[in-house]
Amino acid sequence: MDVTRIMHCIGLRAGFSVLLVCMLATASAEPIMGLQTTNIPGIWPEQGDSVVLTNSVAETPRFLPDANKPKAKAVHNSSRTKRPVVALTFDDGPHGVLTPKLLDILRAEGVRATFFVLGQNVSLYPDIARRIVAEGHEIASHSWSHPSLPSVSASRFDREMRDTTDIIEKTTGQRVTMMRPPYGALNDRVKRALLEDYKLDVILWDVDPRDWRRPGPGVVTRRLVDGAHPGAILLAHDIHSGTIAAMPDTIQQLKAKGYSFATVGELLAMDEPPVAPPPVPRRRKADAPPISVSGEGG
Ligand code: NI
Repeated sequence: MDVTRIMHCIGLRAGFSVLLVCMLATASAEPIMGLQTTNIPGIWPEQGDSVVLTNSVAETPRFLPDANKPKAKAVHNSSRTKRPVVALTFDDGPHGVLTPKLLDILRAEGVRATFFVLGQNVSLYPDIARRIVAEGHEIASHSWSHPSLPSVSASRFDREMRDTTDIIEKTTGQRVTMMRPPYGALNDRVKRALLEDYKLDVILWDVDPRDWRRPGPGVVTRRLVDGAHPGAILLAHDIHSGTIAAMPDTIQQLKAKGYSFATVGELLAMDEPPVAPPPVPRRRKADAPPISVSGEGG
């Protein structure tokens, strides 16, 4: 590309930017001011991240959040953040003995986690559910009684969802915004109902230590630590003693590798939209007939 051509391109680009700024300014003065001064904590990339913000309005709209518009609900396996942060998640509790032990460990380590609880266990252990929230953890739905949701009737599905949200909110005062389907089992009908009717984010995982097979604490720790990456959602179950025994080492080894811990909600708030245009959506396995991601996993 010779110099003349480069200058020509710069000219075109600058001209386009000016034109666009004028068009936007004519439409509304407010957004333009917002565009150039916006600095929303938790959404904008921080120092050290590779996304570079420029002063050109024409180059930035792809990254601009609309503060007034709620983010669309979606299925998440992880967060697209480059920060060394992971989310520990615990399913199937609360357990009368093991969940309090886990909460002691998390408190001692200064770690907050996310608990996907069963409604029936919240009804058995409301004090433990309240303690989860009181100690800064996030609580979310894992259904009432752990059925594979694609296999249940519409009325049972509604009861599983509604009753669980009700008991979590009435017991803890925390609003339910996320759901993890038992076994990670989804089909189109269930996915659409969770996202659109119940307005819940569907949270799966991308590191599964298969702790439900009780492989021993050392193996659970190794699988979680080896699988961790920035933005990872780590799956575990607070109903297995080996999982609880694995947690001190797991947390300490992850800290030693430079990781810090966030709740799933916090991790998703760090999600960074891709710089390149998103790829054409691929058909997910979960759109096919009901699946079980990992046997009893989830
Ligand atoms: Ni489960």
